[in-house]
Amino acid sequence: MSRHLFLIGFMGAGKTRVARLVAERLGRPFIDLDERIEAAEGRSVSAIFSEDGEDEFRRLESEQLALVADSAPAVIACGGGIIVRCENRSLLPSLGYVIYLKVTAAEALARVGDAATRPLLAGPGGQLAATSLLQAREGLYSSTADAAVDTVGRTPEAIADEVVALFEASEEQ
Ligand code: S3P
Repeated sequence: MSRHLFLIGFMGAGKTRVARLVAERLGRPFIDLDERIEAAEGRSVSAIFSEDGEDEFRRLESEQLALVADSAPAVIACGGGIIVRCENRSLLPSLGYVIYLKVTAAEALARVGDAATRPLLAGPGGQLAATSLLQAREGLYSSTADAAVDTVGRTPEAIADEVVALFEASEEQ
């Protein structure tokens, strides 16, 4: 059976970078869910948050997730908050294999750098927000995913190797 491969995890976990590498290796299309939302809306994620708020962003995110059900099997990088909504947590495993890319709050902040593009981490409270958000979400990432991969101290290439191996093993079952 051929299914989507989803990468989930906190902001800065490297989902987009790794998903691109994995898509190349598997010869599959790459989909970035945030990009789909921005393309459909004609505005950035930050603009959606500031103009219409997080709830509206979550609604658009669920809408785009539901739409990939009709796409050819792809490697899909999800936004860090995809697991916030219960409906998404049910939909993800029904549409494919889900891998959780794990990162610490400190490493996530260091990697994100320009947090202005991540409205939830922007501003002086970014460090605290990262720590408490990650703590609140950790269980949701783990329970939604079929497998987890550590990313701290590893190159995107090494992470992609492990993701491909896990996915191929799951397809053989
Ligand atoms: C979010 C993560 C972002 C983006 C939005 C909200 C979150 O995606 O969807 O800013 O709630 O964790 P990345 O994880 O790709 O940064």
